[in-house]
Amino acid sequence: MRIIKLLIRKIIGEKLFESISLFKLLIINTYIDAMMFFKHSMVFKQNTFNKIESKIILHYHGIEKGFLHEKFRYRFGEKGIIGLIELLKNKEVIENQKRTQILAAYMAICKYYEKHQKEGIDISDYYSSNDYVFFKSLLTIDFDIVKEHNHTEFFEHSKSDFFEFSKSRGSVRNFTGELVSFETINKVIQIAKTAPSVCNRQTIKVYYAEKKEIISRILSLQQGLKGYSDDINQLLIVVSDRNYFYTVGERNQLYIDGGVFLMNLLYALHYYKIGACPAHWGFNYQQDREIQKELGLSDSEKVICLVPIGIPKNEFKTTLSIRRDNEEILKIVNS
Ligand SMILES: Cc1cc2nc3c(=O)[nH]c(=O)nc-3n(C[C@H](O)[C@H](O)[C@H](O)COP(=O)(O)O)c2cc1C
Repeated sequence: MRIIKLLIRKIIGEKLFESISLFKLLIINTYIDAMMFFKHSMVFKQNTFNKIESKIILHYHGIEKGFLHEKFRYRFGEKGIIGLIELLKNKEVIENQKRTQILAAYMAICKYYEKHQKEGIDISDYYSSNDYVFFKSLLTIDFDIVKEHNHTEFFEHSKSDFFEFSKSRGSVRNFTGELVSFETINKVIQIAKTAPSVCNRQTIKVYYAEKKEIISRILSLQQGLKGYSDDINQLLIVVSDRNYFYTVGERNQLYIDGGVFLMNLLYALHYYKIGACPAHWGFNYQQDREIQKELGLSDSEKVICLVPIGIPKNEFKTTLSIRRDNEEILKIVNS
């Protein structure tokens, strides 16, 4: 086998041989990535508690987002509500009712019922009073599922110490429509680019769009900000360039550097009192092609995330988006 390899190497040349070996490595690793995703993501199965929790978060976050609208859409998200009710009656879920995300879900499903009850809107065809009474009986505390803000209070800690500052940032989806100056956007980038990156390769570019037709087309492709897009007049698009990655092991590094940059960008925007909401670009190659065409990107460039920006309305709401307890995050490795 070794001799055959050496022979092929001699015939096709060192460079081509190396390329073929690396391509093989890329295919094997991409295949294993795909299999791991197939096995462990919730796309194909719902067979672990974490997958169930993930679905619960998806649904309760939908309720929180529904509560943000200035004009409440009664009976919104009926299908999601039916799914969430089913999941919240699962024995394992009930046993884990103290976990932050499960608690938040019980709270959201109760608030949904109470809001309709208060306004006399009948939802008994998909959400029974028995279910509500049961969910309510599991709750020992009460809290709102959205946070109400005014402009001054929201940015009160924009220059505070990092603990207060980071707690005060939130995803803003309600804008006045007024434009943030390009000069300020430049200042934002000045801070955002302090983000670290692998070997300081700084693969990230931020594309800026303010043409309404382009923004509308991109947001309608994205779909995650339905109901808020009318007042989105400025859009940042965080893009990573594959040209800068040189080992097969770095095949996902573009997302890591993109994520690190994105967080710094969000903090920089908050620092300059600009409202922003990251909007995922977790799509497939068809949508990638469409946005590449829309923005005039080269094939090497990958959109990581969209960030609509603007001046927040004087009064607006953000989702509670309760964070996990430290015990759910920080795990000590057994020595
Ligand atoms: C990568 C990423 C993608 C997101 N995509 C969307 C989206 O498509 N639509 C949306 O309304 N919010 C989106 N969000 C905002 C999250 O819902 C929000 O960050 C989360 O609930 C935490 O709330 P906070 O940002 O107010 O702290 C996204 C956030 C991130 C980090």
